[in-house]
Amino acid sequence: MDVPGFALITGAASGIGRACAHGFVKEGSSGVALLDVSLEALENVRSELQALQSKSGKENDAPNGTSHSSECQIEIYQVDVTSETQVVNAVNDAASKFGRLDYVVNAAGIAMKHAGGVAFAETNDWQRIIDVNLTGTFFVLRAAAKIMLNQEPIRSSINGRPLQRGSIVNFSSIQGVVGIAQSAAYTATKHGIMGLTRSASEDYAKDGLRINAILPGYTETPLTTKNPQILEAMKQRVSTAVPMERMGQPSEIADGVLYLAGGRSSFVTGSALAVDGGYTSR
Ligand SMILES: NC(=O)c1ccc[n+]([C@@H]2O[C@H](COP(=O)([O-])OP(=O)(O)OC[C@H]3O[C@@H](n4cnc5c(N)ncnc54)[C@H](O)[C@@H]3O)[C@@H](O)[C@H]2O)c1
Repeated sequence: MDVPGFALITGAASGIGRACAHGFVKEGSSGVALLDVSLEALENVRSELQALQSKSGKENDAPNGTSHSSECQIEIYQVDVTSETQVVNAVNDAASKFGRLDYVVNAAGIAMKHAGGVAFAETNDWQRIIDVNLTGTFFVLRAAAKIMLNQEPIRSSINGRPLQRGSIVNFSSIQGVVGIAQSAAYTATKHGIMGLTRSASEDYAKDGLRINAILPGYTETPLTTKNPQILEAMKQRVSTAVPMERMGQPSEIADGVLYLAGGRSSFVTGSALAVDGGYTSR
């Protein structure tokens, strides 16, 4: 996927963010900074990645005992993306440890249903979802963009394509383009991510900083499976509204993220990539 540089991933302790962390390591990135509120879960993901590296290191061992694999540097940060200070500190620290920041994946997010619909939505729930999904993405994007704009572009290994200064992938959703019942706050944030992405991409397209959105469809992660209300609503929708008639796996979404992050999408900015089993084509 041409992602040799350094990646920073929010929401990296679970689901799609975790799958992205695996993806960057497997595809040979030089380093990954993993951000999440849950420290314990982050430590687990770091252990998984270390095990992955030592396994692939052994597989790549040359007969004379030398190893061809280069280690991916793994840094973890317990960060609540709603805290501007925590975000800025973590992003700056990762950039300083790595020497640069090439790919940012804004996967941290929460979802919630409003029983009875928007008329009965709690103000606290509305505010919390906006804070995490939309403002958190803005905080990370802003902190990372300041660094990316000041760094030298890296050269794409793919047939001499124009250089890339940095690439940011924001998490929207199928709910960034359609509405779903009892999900007003979540849907509003995911539409908001589309506007943030399009506008921010215009700001820096000519500078080689690319900013895109990914729109996952129903995907099997703790976000969708741990809440019985969300899981039940989703199962019903999947059987009728998803042309592929199945949920996606986190690794299938991560592949879309890696494409948008890396050199193969060198002419792609301000776009929205749906990875949704056909949901939004109907
Ligand atoms: N799973 C789906 O069906 C689906 C569909 C469309 C979009 N998405 C989006 O994909 C992204 C990842 O979702 P997922 O399904 O992997 O969910 P998940 O619950 O498995 O993972 C989300 C991660 O974000 C972290 N997080 C939550 N609040 C945070 C905060 N304030 N600060 C830092 N980290 C925080 C959680 O601890 C968790 O590790 C989200 O933005 C979600 O809206 C998911």
